[in-house]
Amino acid sequence: MSDKKYLFANWKMYLDHSESEALALALAKKLTLPEHIVMAVFPSALALSDVSKTLKDTPISTGAQNIYWIDKGGYTGEISAHMYKAAGCTYALVGHSERRHIFNETNHEVRQKVEAALAASLVPVICVGETEHERQSNKTEETIETQIRSAFHNIAWPENKELIVAYEPVWAIGTGQACDPVEAERMHELIKKQVIALTGVTPVILYGGSVRPENVQQYLNNPNISGVLVGAASANIESWEAIVDSFR
Ligand code: PGA
Repeated sequence: MSDKKYLFANWKMYLDHSESEALALALAKKLTLPEHIVMAVFPSALALSDVSKTLKDTPISTGAQNIYWIDKGGYTGEISAHMYKAAGCTYALVGHSERRHIFNETNHEVRQKVEAALAASLVPVICVGETEHERQSNKTEETIETQIRSAFHNIAWPENKELIVAYEPVWAIGTGQACDPVEAERMHELIKKQVIALTGVTPVILYGGSVRPENVQQYLNNPNISGVLVGAASANIESWEAIVDSFR
């Protein structure tokens, strides 16, 4: 297993263009990263190109929060994986729970986006997670397995391309109610087994959902948790620096 630790910052729609630029500049100036940390920020589409330029000579990569699976055409409001790649992205979040639940993205669409990301040489970060209702009705494993199978069944994963999954229970996102680290580790193990069975590739699996400077270490201590995908606490320099410090 890789000793690298992944620290991914999902800025969601928290920061406008100038706020994103200011945070990117602060990161570029303030943060020195040990080699074992892989860091990426996911700014809004509007800020992505400039943030990518600002971070160009740093070890911090950028990623898209969402992509569309067709390259070009009459799709008002959409941005393709190729366009994001040209704007400087390395990664793309695919199937974030806010996309699945607020914008009704289906498992089938998630699969199309995974394929589009690979075709554009982006590394997709495939997000999976159960709702509170699914957890309470003992459907957690079934939900995750369906999401994973749909994303990876019969896919030819390119050699040397990282396979990254983020386990983000929907009830833990933006609620302050983080998943118990023991339960998160159990889910990561389950996801790992399933991804290996489907693709033959050992995945990198990140935990996401109310990660804060106070709790991040509890996740990182687990063998199958390779890093974190952080929302609210990644959108300001103080809490982000405190999280980074836990990785050192
Ligand atoms: P949160 O979001 O850290 O604000 O809970 C995590 C995510 O949605 O990726």
